[in-house]
Amino acid sequence: MPKVLVCDPIDQVGIDILSQVAQVDVKTGLPTEELVKIVPEYDALMIRSGTRVTQEIIEAGAQLKIIGRAGVGVDNVDVPAATRKGIVVVNSPEGNTIAAAEHALALMLSLSRHIPEANQSVKDSQWDRKRFIGTEVYKKTLGIVGLGKIGSHVAAAAKAMGMKLLAYDPFISAERAEQIGCRLVELDLLFQESDYITLHIPKTPETTHLINADAIAKMKPTTRIINCARGGIIDEEALFTALKEGRIAGAALDVFESEPLGESSLRQLGQEVILTPHLGASTAEAQVNVAVDVAEQIRDVLLGLPARSA
Ligand code: NAD
Ligand code: MLT
Repeated sequence: MPKVLVCDPIDQVGIDILSQVAQVDVKTGLPTEELVKIVPEYDALMIRSGTRVTQEIIEAGAQLKIIGRAGVGVDNVDVPAATRKGIVVVNSPEGNTIAAAEHALALMLSLSRHIPEANQSVKDSQWDRKRFIGTEVYKKTLGIVGLGKIGSHVAAAAKAMGMKLLAYDPFISAERAEQIGCRLVELDLLFQESDYITLHIPKTPETTHLINADAIAKMKPTTRIINCARGGIIDEEALFTALKEGRIAGAALDVFESEPLGESSLRQLGQEVILTPHLGASTAEAQVNVAVDVAEQIRDVLLGLPARSA
């Protein structure tokens, strides 16, 4: 019987699917050295974002046929190394779209109404209503960077809340953007006009530090930035300086240049910043979706059926 190693917490429904065709071992939180030692006995790996599947692990995986990423981003897998060894890498491109979009919207509203600090103050036995005067999103301009699956869902919800929508995405047409209710603009114009900027792009060499000191200098002092996409798209030091000096109004980050977030100056800031520990996909529904999606693909490959690679 083939063997599957599940390296990160995955919904049980995925493990049940795999168990129909394989022996499934769940060993989460293993350091790379441990993984290198045990990977030779496995035919498949199933991961979320917690495990980094390095070239070393891939090369040690003498029997590996497939690596399944229960989520969208395969940036924690050395895909070229896997491809060189003929190992298929699969993901779940749509399973957590709604969860991530809703988290971005939740962050935008939480930032506008100071929900985390207000909640903490009441729990600390205070009743301070003056400190938490917020701003409305109604009639404000939302700049969406990346109008793919998540960006489009954010657009639909933001439109329903009465926001004006700008979008920057060099890979979609103005007509497509218009269908989604957005005006497609150049990045600089989006930076200049947006009250809120939400990022929904992959991390690539072009998007790394897309939000840097120069970009921030073009924004209004009232601008708030939301990053529920990938760490490293924002230059965190530049963001910290801008927030500390009041050059923009706020930021809500779900993803970080290095995860888990270690020592970071961002932790020193007050209610102008909200930090969540990469929770975009953390809904019950999304975790079932991605687990089923990826487990079915691993099962099919182990049964000798063709794969749909990431
Ligand atoms: P998608 O592929 O559907 O959309 C991405 C969009 O970005 C595409 O329309 C593409 O044309 C556009 N794009 C690419 N390069 C660009 C650039 N240089 N400038 C502007 N636009 C560019 O992807 P998606 O499913 O919507 O995911 C978006 C991001 O969210 C990804 O980075 C993904 O990894 C991340 N994500 C995070 C979480 C989380 O837990 N926080 C959950 C799911 C997805
Ligand atoms: C993803 O790429 O799907 C996200 O980072 C969510 C996750 O897997 O936690």
